[in-house]
Amino acid sequence: MCGIFAYLNFLTPKKRSEILELLVTGLKRLEYRGYDSAGVAIDSADNQEITLIKKTGKVALLEEAIKDFSEKLQVSGHLDTHCGIAHTRWATHGVPSEINSHPQRSDDSNTFVVVHNGIITNYKEVKVFLEQKGYRFESETDTEIIAKLIYHFYKQHPTFTFRELVENVVQQLEGAFALCFKSKHFPGECVGTRRGSPLLVGIKTKTRLATDHIPILYGKDHRPHGRVEIPSLPRTGSTEFEPLEDKQVEYFFASDASAIIEHTNRVIYFEDDDIAAVRNGILSIHRVRRGGDDPNHREITTLKMELQQIMKGNYDYYMQKEIFEQPESVVNTMRGRVNFETKTVVLGGIKEHIPEIKRCRRLMLIGCGTSYHSAIATRQLLEELTELPVMVELASDFLDRTTPVFRDDVCFFISQSGETADTLMALRYCKQRGALIVGITNTVGSSICRESHCGVHINAGPEIGVASTKAYTSQFISLVMFALVMSEDRLSLRKRREEIIDGLKNLQGQIRKVLLLDEKVKSLAENLYNKKSLLIMGRGFNFATCLEGALKVKELTYMHSEGIMAGELKHGPLALIDNTMPVMMIVTRDPVYIKCMNALQQVKSRDGNPILICEEGDAETMAFASQYLEVPKTVDCLQGILTVIPMQLLSFHIAVRRGCNVDCPRNLAKSVTVE
Ligand code: M6R
Repeated sequence: MCGIFAYLNFLTPKKRSEILELLVTGLKRLEYRGYDSAGVAIDSADNQEITLIKKTGKVALLEEAIKDFSEKLQVSGHLDTHCGIAHTRWATHGVPSEINSHPQRSDDSNTFVVVHNGIITNYKEVKVFLEQKGYRFESETDTEIIAKLIYHFYKQHPTFTFRELVENVVQQLEGAFALCFKSKHFPGECVGTRRGSPLLVGIKTKTRLATDHIPILYGKDHRPHGRVEIPSLPRTGSTEFEPLEDKQVEYFFASDASAIIEHTNRVIYFEDDDIAAVRNGILSIHRVRRGGDDPNHREITTLKMELQQIMKGNYDYYMQKEIFEQPESVVNTMRGRVNFETKTVVLGGIKEHIPEIKRCRRLMLIGCGTSYHSAIATRQLLEELTELPVMVELASDFLDRTTPVFRDDVCFFISQSGETADTLMALRYCKQRGALIVGITNTVGSSICRESHCGVHINAGPEIGVASTKAYTSQFISLVMFALVMSEDRLSLRKRREEIIDGLKNLQGQIRKVLLLDEKVKSLAENLYNKKSLLIMGRGFNFATCLEGALKVKELTYMHSEGIMAGELKHGPLALIDNTMPVMMIVTRDPVYIKCMNALQQVKSRDGNPILICEEGDAETMAFASQYLEVPKTVDCLQGILTVIPMQLLSFHIAVRRGCNVDCPRNLAKSVTVE
């Protein structure tokens, strides 16, 4: 997915080479999101022009290309004040190419340049308007209209400030975007804005900041008539504000905190339609119009994330590191929430809403991919402990169906990134219909976090690998904790609750034990890596592991894989079974054990040779297979946490063996911010 990084140094001398290095490093921190090309814009050697350097492929190639410019740019020269913008692009409109990569420009002289995350849905309309005015387009992107439109407005209103021009531009745009602008007419200035796509700014000063918030300046509603026919653009006029004043200051605009955390931990997360402008080193935040409940300021928050948390540590791959972090991440999810002594659970983020949730008509759990699987994994327990109907929905399908949602529904939106477009759209759909919105996310300050009424932060720590691993087990535990909270006053469920809480207590040690299977799983991968397909079967509490295991195998290894509900075998999948088809089966001693054993017999009697994931020491079950992976026994509803880890390891090892890009599988992105 695209990534934005912009760096502005005000009265903070930096060599051009340092600025370029900062921009490239910022882009490197965003690489994990997935991208196909990258680019930067900085001032030219005479400071009169803007130089664009763009490259298809990895940021490392851009870095090489920048070296070729070093003489021309006089990179050893100092700049006291300067703004540079940079971008990693993931193609949506037009193929990956240099011309289509960002920054996009207004004209051959690079008068205005812009970087953009998201999609402009009315770009064709605006393009026609601009073409009629004589503008010629060079790229296939939707973004180019933004650069040309701001130039058009500038020519009409040369006295407007940079921020006023951007305000007028964004009012013409439909769709989702985060934008950062730079212009040769406004040297040392940067304007950023967002709608539906994340953007934040990090602030670094020599002395402690004198303020912990930035006031918001509201203009008058001045939306012009007609979307692109603009006879004359009004100014918003608001120029008085309490500035954030500090002589030497550096600003880091980014679509993701991982790009700025090594520079500063003081950040402001922008809201939709905020226009943030830096001029004369002063950051101001504007909004075109004010609604009833709109706040007076935006808080400067302190990020707790450490850079090493997002680096690989001793592992070769982020995904590997994240799999092995699970003994700690599950504890972090429970920390301060589960009291193992008193056998109680408190979820501070939703505590106030529990009485309302207990009165609801039904629970809806909505997410995509792995997040959706965490809902499948916990539905059965939620039904058991809440005695409420529980619907589990894929966000995309939910929206396609225009599903009925009511005021007395409670809707959970599960998302690691908190930015998944389908999930966010579904959230807004449910919110409009009056449902209570509960966010289950891993990213503080994300759109889903901010737009939820309440929520649970899963505290898994940054997840960089595109394949979700530790977020899954933490989402799983968060939903289990919610089920426990919902049943706290049910005497009849006391024993069950207590066995689950005891199970949670033992998880850390049990996960460590499962991770010891790594070598065994690696040799299994050696037998499987050149196969075409892998079927994964199970039912009951382990069905989600089958779906999640198959998703991991697909996305990481590009092999076909299918998670099969064992109860469905006779209804079709059994036809696939012969002595050549690789099959894995998850068979643990839970209420559906006998049924799973039936399925195992059926597979065996068709010459199948399944690899089992079963409970430690269960000799009777193991006798049915030549290969098996033993995981410790836990309470039935938590067993899925332990059975999914061998599947994470297996997909990882097969991917390495097949030479696939483990952390960044082809065609995929970490955060899917387009529908
Ligand atoms: O950030 P989210 O949890 O909302 O992301 C949802 C899916 O895109 C994500 O889980 C995806 O399926 C993963 N790549 C799977 O490993």
